[in-house]
Amino acid sequence: MKRIGILTSGGDSPGMNAAICGAVIAAEQRNIEVIGVRNGFDGLLEEQFLPLSSSRVRGINSLGGTILGTSRSDRFLLPEWRRRVPDTLSSTGIDGLIVIGGNGSLRGAMALEEAGIPTVGIPGTIDNDLGGTDFTLGFITAAETAVKAVRRLTDVALSERGIFFVEVMGRNSGYIAMFVGLATGADFVNIPEAPATSEEIYTKISQAEGSAIVIWAEGCGDPSPLAEWLREELNRDIEISRIGHLQRGGTPATLDSFLGFTMGAAALYTISEGRHSIMIGTRNLQPVEVPYEVAIEPNPLPPYLQSMLLPLLNSR
Ligand code: F6P
Repeated sequence: MKRIGILTSGGDSPGMNAAICGAVIAAEQRNIEVIGVRNGFDGLLEEQFLPLSSSRVRGINSLGGTILGTSRSDRFLLPEWRRRVPDTLSSTGIDGLIVIGGNGSLRGAMALEEAGIPTVGIPGTIDNDLGGTDFTLGFITAAETAVKAVRRLTDVALSERGIFFVEVMGRNSGYIAMFVGLATGADFVNIPEAPATSEEIYTKISQAEGSAIVIWAEGCGDPSPLAEWLREELNRDIEISRIGHLQRGGTPATLDSFLGFTMGAAALYTISEGRHSIMIGTRNLQPVEVPYEVAIEPNPLPPYLQSMLLPLLNSR
């Protein structure tokens, strides 16, 4: 392979830039050219190309977001648009594509494979919801951001004997909520993998004479009706704090930059050696090749977190 494309897709996540950097530096060592595709699959359809070099990616390991831009492309879901891609890539001389993103982005990469385009994926999402990898890029940074926010809210809650529901992102995964709950010693954690009943949360909060912090994974739905019910039942004020997109931005944690660079280089080696239809994951800090079919499966919480530590936190 002489020329490889790279794009970021879906929700941006800290560590995507480090992955771009790792791929570009590994490519230069092998005399392969890397062409950035701007704005995800939309940019691929619109032929928005940006040649990348080691001087262009210098220092981006420490930058949040993605220098290439990203999109959630509706058009790419339509076969009539996707059919154009092979011609576009062959006229540009691009022999294969590295796709950095989450579940939907990997499904996009699988669709390109069906059209005969070799692809390798890199797990770029704060949700940590992909199979075959210990971490997805951005998860650690997002959890850290949420932990910092919860620590601040805990100061407020303790001072004013308040009850706070803190909603964290993660789509259908409880990883961020579990990490944040354990790291901050929250009073209750609600995750979609094992959703609590209203009565369980009522019991826990009604026992809290002073303050209480409930970490609420967004995959559990809107906490507002429950908070409203608890306000009436307990005659106490209950605040809902949504950390929202703050979790996606900011300087990547060291581990996200490290893993990003590692996975980026590994993806480049993998695709240039002719292996594809694979996501590069990480196990025990080593890059591993994960078939797409495994990668798009949900990533269950480790049993000790869900069956031992979650009940421990929630029932104390
Ligand atoms: O997948 C990353 C993520 O941040 C999820 O945690 C969240 O549910 C979703 O994206 C938000 O998407 P958007 O930025 O399109 O609102």
